[in-house]
Amino acid sequence: MRTLTKRLQANHTRVEARPPVPAAEAPVQGDEPLAREAIDPTPPKARHAHAARHESAVKHVTGRAHYIDDLPAPAGALHAMVGLSEAAHGRLLRLDLDAVARSPGVVDVISAGDIPGHRDIGPVFPGDPLFAETAVSYVGQPLFAVAATSYAAARRAVRAAVIEIEPLTPRFDPVDAAAAREFVRPSHRQVGGDWAQALAQAPHVLEAQQFVGGQEHFYLEGQACLVIPSEDEGMTVYTSNQHPSETQKLVAEVLDIPFHAVTVENRRMGGGFGGKETQAAPWACMAALLARRNGRAVRLRLPRAEDTRATGKRHPFHNRYRLGIDDDGVIVGGDIELIGDCGHSPDLSEAVVDRAMFHADNAYSLGAARVTGHRARTHTASNTAFRGFGGPQGMMIIERAMDDIARHRGEDPLTIRQRNLYRLGRETTHYGQHVDQHPLLHHVVERLTHSSDYWQRRDRITAFNRHSPVIKRGLALTPVKFGISFTAKHLNQAGALLHVYTDGSVMINHGGTEMGQGLHTKICQVVARELGIELGAVRISATRTDKVPNTSPTAASSGADLNGMAARDAAIQVRRRLLDFAAEHYQWDREGLELEEGALIAGNGDTRHRVAWGELIQAAYLARVSLSATGFYATPLIHYDRASGQGRPFYYFAYGAAVSEVRVDTLSGEYRVERVDVLHDVGDSLNPAIDRGQVEGGFIQGMGWLTSEELKWNAEGRLLSDGPATYKIPTFGDLPPVFNVELLEGHPNSQASLYRSKAVGEPPFMLAISVWSALRDALASLADYRESPDLDTPATPERVLLAAEALRQRSRS
Ligand code: MTE
Ligand code: HPA
Ligand code: MOS
Repeated sequence: MRTLTKRLQANHTRVEARPPVPAAEAPVQGDEPLAREAIDPTPPKARHAHAARHESAVKHVTGRAHYIDDLPAPAGALHAMVGLSEAAHGRLLRLDLDAVARSPGVVDVISAGDIPGHRDIGPVFPGDPLFAETAVSYVGQPLFAVAATSYAAARRAVRAAVIEIEPLTPRFDPVDAAAAREFVRPSHRQVGGDWAQALAQAPHVLEAQQFVGGQEHFYLEGQACLVIPSEDEGMTVYTSNQHPSETQKLVAEVLDIPFHAVTVENRRMGGGFGGKETQAAPWACMAALLARRNGRAVRLRLPRAEDTRATGKRHPFHNRYRLGIDDDGVIVGGDIELIGDCGHSPDLSEAVVDRAMFHADNAYSLGAARVTGHRARTHTASNTAFRGFGGPQGMMIIERAMDDIARHRGEDPLTIRQRNLYRLGRETTHYGQHVDQHPLLHHVVERLTHSSDYWQRRDRITAFNRHSPVIKRGLALTPVKFGISFTAKHLNQAGALLHVYTDGSVMINHGGTEMGQGLHTKICQVVARELGIELGAVRISATRTDKVPNTSPTAASSGADLNGMAARDAAIQVRRRLLDFAAEHYQWDREGLELEEGALIAGNGDTRHRVAWGELIQAAYLARVSLSATGFYATPLIHYDRASGQGRPFYYFAYGAAVSEVRVDTLSGEYRVERVDVLHDVGDSLNPAIDRGQVEGGFIQGMGWLTSEELKWNAEGRLLSDGPATYKIPTFGDLPPVFNVELLEGHPNSQASLYRSKAVGEPPFMLAISVWSALRDALASLADYRESPDLDTPATPERVLLAAEALRQRSRS
């Protein structure tokens, strides 16, 4: 810290930047406190620059960032492994773990009967036993866990279990489940007007259905934790986890100890994507049980195949629409039904299917519409949060409808989309929320249409397709409107804890977790900005439940919105105290005091005074001013009445649009995404570099979901696509060769969000629907654009080929 103090004080006399250190010559000190500064070639003044790089960027790319498995464990730490069910549905008749216990290196074995406290760790509703007791509900369900002296010994030992399960008939089809009313939660409905009458009176009625596939999170760091027993029956839990507070609660409940005995810590995750919102908790609970019983630290890290089998995925959906349209192809009303495949338990499915319903309109007015959401129970792992949280699956049905209407009318899908966008007089959603920035939607679509040359390319593609019987090109523009806020109102709160130390360095902790999305960088920027100091003076250590309590998961894209506001609140309190102190101490006019560029500035012109930040802090400390504050934030205005299905669940909407162009070989089904243009709305960006990364990453992850990532189970319900060899996430080579990404500028959030920014984590994911729509466009050319092909997702080459065959057959007959 000495260097920091010196530099902070140096600001007193010299405001100029240090000479830049050329990156190539600078020492690489990845683990050093100021590593990112040491090799930062930009001068300090520019450093809280807006487009600051990720706080761990250097550590990420040099392998120096610590993940859970990199943490050194205390001597005598044990390795845990989990025994999983091989049956999808049945009654557990016998669980004989004697041979497991006798296996070399094994120290302890536990199953349901060994849990002193709660046995069900369902996050919102019960239904998730930590270990199966009598009922077995999916292949991959945890039955027991072992602790051994080595990872290999633990892995070997679990295979020695003697397990007898009386098989019962499993159910894998959510449509069958819905027909049999096998639901994990009751169905829900949103009705925005007289939908039946709208359908009855509409000049045209279209209907269709689709299957939308699930998705494996494929976080690079798998589920992992390290649990260390502490004094007074306590537990310290290091876990790769989006929801430390809930894991704290569950560990405490499972061990039957008070919450204050458990501290959960996370420095960063190697990706979460929603897969660690609820489903990181069980592993921590198991490791804590083993740690408690043995008084030793326990590590638990799931191998990739076990991880993919044991944890839930994005919900697959079956969607149906029946829509009335007028002679211009504008929707007047109708009925949309969504069936989410929830797997065996509720987990987060109530909220996931709600969010699918909230996005069944995407960016278009549905007129007088009814939207119904079902939560089907099937015998697979419990499907869970995944970037977009049901929103993407809901949007798919209306984007399908847009293409269908266009083919029916013989018009370009873009024209139909533009006509249906929310607009004056058609600005209220089916759940009663007013879409207050709808002109921005039109603006984004129009600008992108222009910047991507949509219409010129459309003409060229149509001409090309006329003369190319096998290779067909396709083009599509799809918009996104994504609601920002947790739909569970109480989760829209956050806290922060800010300390200023006497050398002037600042520690900020907040409720959010870092999973690569750049949240910590943004929060440091907020604090640096409020205190007028350089970014390097602000640090976040790790997320800890003993620093900021009762936190919400880092999810719903709201990490920066919520925690940034809480951090800002804390910083503003400290700033206020410092300025009050300075006014009195130096006898300067309070009104004229500012904190900026690492100093306290008073007055102007000849009366201008300057006190370096470090000096100000020293003086404030000596004068016994508190240099620490807690901050808090709760999102205003939002509400949703589930009984009536009406309200204003979202504080605001984030917008965007993408144009994708594809080239399809219609005799093999193979295709390439040739060009993508994106225009995305982040309000006034908190950090354009990070936001751009989120847009690009989100788009590519969305493209993987809709194209190459196919989940396959065998007839017994065993997941076959359980690793990189059988499950294809996009690789570097799948990047579109032309990928133009632009953040919309000059359009601050209309709501009083953090510096008028907008959340960015999830919305861009859904821009990838343009790829799917472009594939359908290419296929439609086989039938002279008069037919709208069925194309379920993922639209693998196989599905594209089958769709092409079906179209050819129909045009022949
Ligand atoms: N980006 C990276 N690199 N890794 C992730 O795991 N998760 C996404 C998104 N972007 C994720 C990510 C999801 S699902 C969410 S909800 C948001 O980040 C959460 O972070 P935020 O609220 O801070 O944006
Ligand atoms: N999004 C993400 N995660 C959540 C939500 C949501 O709306 N509600 C509860 N967990
Ligand atoms: Mo994101 S699915 O809300 O973790």
